[in-house]
Amino acid sequence: MRAHFWRRAAAWTAGGLLAVAVVAAGVLFLGSEYVLRRHHEAPLEAVRVPADAAAREQGRLRARLVGCYNGCHGPEAEGKTWVDEPGLAHITAPNLTRLIPQYTDAELARLLRYGVRRDGTTAIDMPSYMFYHLSEGDLGALIAFMRSLPAREGPKRERTFSWKGRLELLIGEWPTSAGDVDRSRQRVGAQPATTSTERGRYIAMITCPECHGPDLEGYPGDTPPLLIVAAYSFEEFTTLMRTGVAKGGRDAGLMSYIGRTRTPTLTDQEVADLYAFLRSRVTTGPGPR
Ligand code: HEC
Repeated sequence: MRAHFWRRAAAWTAGGLLAVAVVAAGVLFLGSEYVLRRHHEAPLEAVRVPADAAAREQGRLRARLVGCYNGCHGPEAEGKTWVDEPGLAHITAPNLTRLIPQYTDAELARLLRYGVRRDGTTAIDMPSYMFYHLSEGDLGALIAFMRSLPAREGPKRERTFSWKGRLELLIGEWPTSAGDVDRSRQRVGAQPATTSTERGRYIAMITCPECHGPDLEGYPGDTPPLLIVAAYSFEEFTTLMRTGVAKGGRDAGLMSYIGRTRTPTLTDQEVADLYAFLRSRVTTGPGPR
């Protein structure tokens, strides 16, 4: 009689646990699918895309600075494995030489500035909260350059999420590109930039937030707040931006890579402006400016 009771209790418990697991898996799957598939409203803004070679060259420099070219999307924008972590996700940064021809200029502007794809769903891991700040001129030049690239073969497109990736999407631990854009902020590239500090602010806001955070405050454990520039002389800063060598002759890992590949596209004036801006924050304090 007692043995019978315990067998039944165990069966009920196992059945209950199984039901809970099935419901949890369903919530996880459906909830994360909603995050990935929901439609985002964002303006389709007209953008003037210049046709001259000088603008295309400016676009090439900006594409390298912000990482579309010879960066996250591979050496020649042919695509690159971005996340390859079993249990989390498999994502390729897509082949832009094949993708861009499918987009209109306004759709590209929307993708860059608002993280919204052609079909209205969100991009994943595009730093649109940074591209949001691009000026009209740079955005148009960047699109002109990216459109001029010849079609290339690249890795197969992948975008699959495992349970941990889905959980992170569901609880917002892994923010989406569209969800991460704060449209109440002023677009820095739409502000007049007449002083060195103002011009430097623009360069900083289209380049550094990807790793140093939307307000350049750093991500503890990964990147320092950019107030660290207080410790840098102008010469040391120039060396970091030009060669990737950090203060004291150190190799600073990913930052040194950025200093070798992206920031060398800045003009001397832009490096000076960037330094002026970052130093101005040391005296006036950080914060969303
Ligand atoms: C792709 C990511 C990435 C981008 C973009 C980036 N950084 Fe960094 N940066 C890092 C990382 C990672 C570190 C920490 C390096 C370390 O401690 O080894 C760092 C550290 C630094 C440091 C401190 C170096 C030291 O002495 O330890 C400075 C200064 C710096 N970054 C400036 C900038 C500026 C200015 C920009 C924008 C123009 C920028 N970074 C853009 C990733 C990035």
